[in-house]
Amino acid sequence: MPEEVLPGVYLLELDGQKRLATRSDTNISVYGERFVEGYRLWDPNRSKFSALFLKVGPKKWLGKEKILDETSKVLYLGAATGTTVSHISDIVRHGLVYAVEFSPRTMQDLLRLCEIRDNIVPVLADASKPESYCRLVEQVDLIYQDVAQRNQSEIASLNCDMYLQPRGILILMIKARSIDVVASPKEIYSREIEKLNGLEVLITSDLHPYHHDHLAVVARKI
Ligand SMILES: C[S@@+](CC[C@H](N)C(=O)[O-])C[C@H]1O[C@@H](n2cnc3c(N)ncnc32)[C@H](O)[C@@H]1O
Repeated sequence: MPEEVLPGVYLLELDGQKRLATRSDTNISVYGERFVEGYRLWDPNRSKFSALFLKVGPKKWLGKEKILDETSKVLYLGAATGTTVSHISDIVRHGLVYAVEFSPRTMQDLLRLCEIRDNIVPVLADASKPESYCRLVEQVDLIYQDVAQRNQSEIASLNCDMYLQPRGILILMIKARSIDVVASPKEIYSREIEKLNGLEVLITSDLHPYHHDHLAVVARKI
């Protein structure tokens, strides 16, 4: 029987391996993921959020700190075609996910996902210009960012200033190679973390072996 390790997130044993899963009302596969007895497997190789949960260990995940539950509001920057967005949409089943993506081509695929899930609000916009979506997005409990851009920390800080409520959580996926191809990832990560204004860093974790040269940062707005 799968164990609910966090609200809406389940740990199950499959072929001798621990796997994460969420539950979906739709039973429609979004990126080729498998369903097992009504649970939607959450692939850590495809979703950095799943990799982060597995790396940190869901049991150690911020203790009693509330990060996400079924009523949370989330601003997701770099939604792509909705792989991770779809799992967050499962978790926040009575909440909302504002999914920001700047590629019109990619947005077409994301729109197909929004048609079958009514808690995702698609936002075609550049995350480095958060004022451009102020009419669509409200204050949120969590900002999740995965944009693979040179100015990743600046984008996160701008959005947290505008949309993250006090004590809200930022989850930032830093891709070292998008920032500097010469410097060591460690050096890049500490430089990027220093640029996060008004946030207290709670957890950092590399995402090896699921994603190389990526650091996940979990921080709380002060
Ligand atoms: C690594 S992919 C995100 C994968 C996604 N987070 C997932 O797990 O399903 C990065 C996405 O961010 C988008 N992106 C990059 N820079 C952006 C920006 N400034 N504003 C909005 N989207 C951006 C890209 O078009 C791309 O779709």
